[in-house]
Amino acid sequence: MKNRAWIVDATPQGAVRTDHFRLEERPMPVAGSGQLLLRNRMLSIAPAQVAWLKAASYRPQVKPGEIMPSGGLGEVIQSEHPDFAVGDIVEGPVEWQDYAVVDAASVRKRDKARPLDLLLALTGGSGLTAYYGMLEVGRIRAGETVLVSAAAGAVGNIAVQIARLAGCRVVGIAGGAEKCRWLVDEYKLDAAVDYKAADFAEALAKACPEGVDFFFDNVGGSVLETALAVMKTGGRIGLCGIVGQLDGEPDRSLRGVPYQLIIRRISMTGFLLSDFTMQQRLAAGAVMRGWVADGRLRVPVHEYKGLENAPAALVALMAGENRGKMLVRL
Ligand SMILES: NC(=O)c1ccc[n+]([C@@H]2O[C@H](COP(=O)([O-])OP(=O)(O)OC[C@H]3O[C@@H](n4cnc5c(N)ncnc54)[C@H](OP(=O)(O)O)[C@@H]3O)[C@@H](O)[C@H]2O)c1
Repeated sequence: MKNRAWIVDATPQGAVRTDHFRLEERPMPVAGSGQLLLRNRMLSIAPAQVAWLKAASYRPQVKPGEIMPSGGLGEVIQSEHPDFAVGDIVEGPVEWQDYAVVDAASVRKRDKARPLDLLLALTGGSGLTAYYGMLEVGRIRAGETVLVSAAAGAVGNIAVQIARLAGCRVVGIAGGAEKCRWLVDEYKLDAAVDYKAADFAEALAKACPEGVDFFFDNVGGSVLETALAVMKTGGRIGLCGIVGQLDGEPDRSLRGVPYQLIIRRISMTGFLLSDFTMQQRLAAGAVMRGWVADGRLRVPVHEYKGLENAPAALVALMAGENRGKMLVRL
């Protein structure tokens, strides 16, 4: 049996393209002591993967010649660890390949009775990031105005729904009039503003006449700069991601922002899902599953099929093709 794997062929300089990767046939990997052999079932496609390709961050930069790293779900087909059995579904660093060998310590066992897409989109990284970003970092309260960028994406869509459940006035930012309409019609946002429109700054100010108490920012760059102007005095910003800054070179510049923070006494907090313990994640997962069960939370997903389409899914994600979580089902 052979294993197909996507190898990083070149480091993207501008936008990521499918030809930055090549598909190779490799021998089947072999599980050693304490390891598991997985048949990969579903890949999580995320902007962070582009960041990993471009520079070192909370993990080393991915270099040409390496298999493309990816979170995802795999089914155990050989176990060399007593806590795992053949047939278990695990979540972890499976990489873009048909089969993966992982250290048992690097994965967590998931409930195989649950749909795979929900395991990744709701109680995996996206839903949990939205949950903690809103409720722990943002500490949102009923009646506050909450603004969310990339509001039609995996994290953003769950984030706006949580803000609505908390009784906030919710404004989303997304690319294009159609996505904005979708957010207002389907998710009952108070307003959604198109950051690609020429009148973005004016439309945002109009959508937030009293200012913003908490801004959950997935984008950075010019979207963050524009949003600073609509923050209330004493407003809070949760910095979740910088998807709007990933097309170019890694940016370490800082201009203009400090003055805006000073004059409005804004607090800005960066956070990573990994700040929260497994215990906390299990608790949040249980709460969100309850919301889904009683119809208060929906989890849109955008699925590609087949390992061969993993690079295309990443390119489509960065172009904003997705509504909700981008996944590749193998
Ligand atoms: N802090 C953490 O622990 C953590 C964990 C998970 C994710 N994140 C971050 O959360 C953010 C969202 O991730 P996700 O997985 O949910 O992805 P996503 O929002 O589902 O997909 C990315 C979206 O970004 C938008 N986008 C692409 N280029 C853009 C640009 N130049 N300017 C503005 N928007 C752009 C696109 O929507 P449009 O059509 O609206 O442009 C696209 O759909 C990312 O920044 C990610 O790194 C952080």
